[in-house]
Amino acid sequence: MKAAAILGTALLAAAAHAGVVLPRQDTTTADSSDGLEPTQDLNDLLEQAKAQVINNVTETEQQLRKRGQTPRCTVKNLVFRREYGSLSKSERLSYVNAIKCLQNKPPRTPTSVAPGAKSRFDDFVVTHIQQTLSIHYSGIFQPWHRWFVYQYEKALRDECGYTGYQPYWDWPKYARAPQDSPLFNGDPYSLGGNGEYIPHDGPVIVPPPGVGGGNISLPAGEGSGFVTTGPFANMVVNLGPVGGLADTDPGPMGGLGYNPRGLKRDLGGAMNMRYANYTTVLKMLLQPNVDKYRIVSEGVPYTPEIGPHGGIHYTIGGDPGGDLFTSPGDPAFWVHHGQMDRLWTMWQALGLGGNRYTDLGSGSYAHRTWENNPESPLAQLTDVIDMGYAAPSTTIGEVMSTTGGEFCYFYL
Ligand SMILES: *[C@@H]1O[C@H](CO)[C@@H](O)[C@H](O)[C@H]1NC(C)=O
Ligand SMILES: *[C@@H]1O[C@H](CO)[C@@H](O)[C@H](O)[C@H]1NC(C)=O
Ligand SMILES: *[C@@H]1O[C@H](CO)[C@@H](O)[C@H](O)[C@H]1NC(C)=O
Repeated sequence: MKAAAILGTALLAAAAHAGVVLPRQDTTTADSSDGLEPTQDLNDLLEQAKAQVINNVTETEQQLRKRGQTPRCTVKNLVFRREYGSLSKSERLSYVNAIKCLQNKPPRTPTSVAPGAKSRFDDFVVTHIQQTLSIHYSGIFQPWHRWFVYQYEKALRDECGYTGYQPYWDWPKYARAPQDSPLFNGDPYSLGGNGEYIPHDGPVIVPPPGVGGGNISLPAGEGSGFVTTGPFANMVVNLGPVGGLADTDPGPMGGLGYNPRGLKRDLGGAMNMRYANYTTVLKMLLQPNVDKYRIVSEGVPYTPEIGPHGGIHYTIGGDPGGDLFTSPGDPAFWVHHGQMDRLWTMWQALGLGGNRYTDLGSGSYAHRTWENNPESPLAQLTDVIDMGYAAPSTTIGEVMSTTGGEFCYFYL
């Protein structure tokens, strides 16, 4: 696809939507479908969001130029992250090859910190393992993972010669059978196939020690064994597991030790359809504030309503995908969090007033600790996003807009 053509369409849409009208937020949209087909409402909202961002970048650029300043993010240098299945085969292959390259580069994490870190790819896994209990269900969750994905994309580009951008997994698109999608069908352009089928029960989530709640039983997928097809067949997982699933013994040194084993997955439609269909995505975009958005996205604490965030993590399932701590060790993590970031970006753009780029909320997910347990202050824009050995650190305020700070990207 030609960038100019894309931009042309976006700009036309921007003009058409100059007086964009916000959807009603107090009623659920008429949607009698099962959530397995996209609705016009959803498509309209996504187009509105795109138009808003292009408008905003254009206006900001003009204002800066008027003041004699040089804008950093312009319509010309804005880049787009795309849906995995919309990439050409050669684009998918270059993404896959860049991941393999990262998995073959030496780690920056000292052995004394994590003897299990064997590659640059593993540096990212270590950082996530170390901070899991402070970067989920807390005010830093969304900004932290935005910076995390961006730095991973940057490593693929700067250290492994990748010339594309981070693709995303449009969850509802393949909800009936994600294992057959371009992401996971096991062909040379996929992120590897499903795990081999072994009859099994679905996962049981056991809350980490020190936080409340009981066990949650989830539907089983269509795999659960080793991944034996596609580019990541026979991939070796070095770190973890840490914990979070019943019947999983932690690896050495709390998951930071060396624990080589094969990649397992348990993809299937049951969990994907239940937790991440088009109705879910529409519902996310219609939420009026960040506290409500996060309850839809991340789920109601300690209930089976685990939201699309958890729902898709457990749709990937297996090892390390099913382990909250070690999940970035499955290449599928990154396309999932690409979509998490995409939807947050879209929702931010629909806010018009602009406070969605500064408001971190005040609900139970807005504090510095996991679901405010133990009690802690609200997260602040000045709080540090620590990337450990994986990448440079920043602050929350720096990453609130994907067209501000160091960023200049958006989603198609
Ligand atoms: C939750 O699962 C764990 C691990 O399988 C088990 O030991 C525990 O008894 C379960 N708790 C409940 C309340 O079922
Ligand atoms: C679609 O997702 C919603 C939650 O967002 C859920 O209540 C509904 O059951 C899901 N539909 C299907 C077919 O599973
Ligand atoms: C435009 O985007 C910036 C962040 O990049 C934000 O601060 C500002 O509020 C946005 N303006 C509108 C009208 O949404």
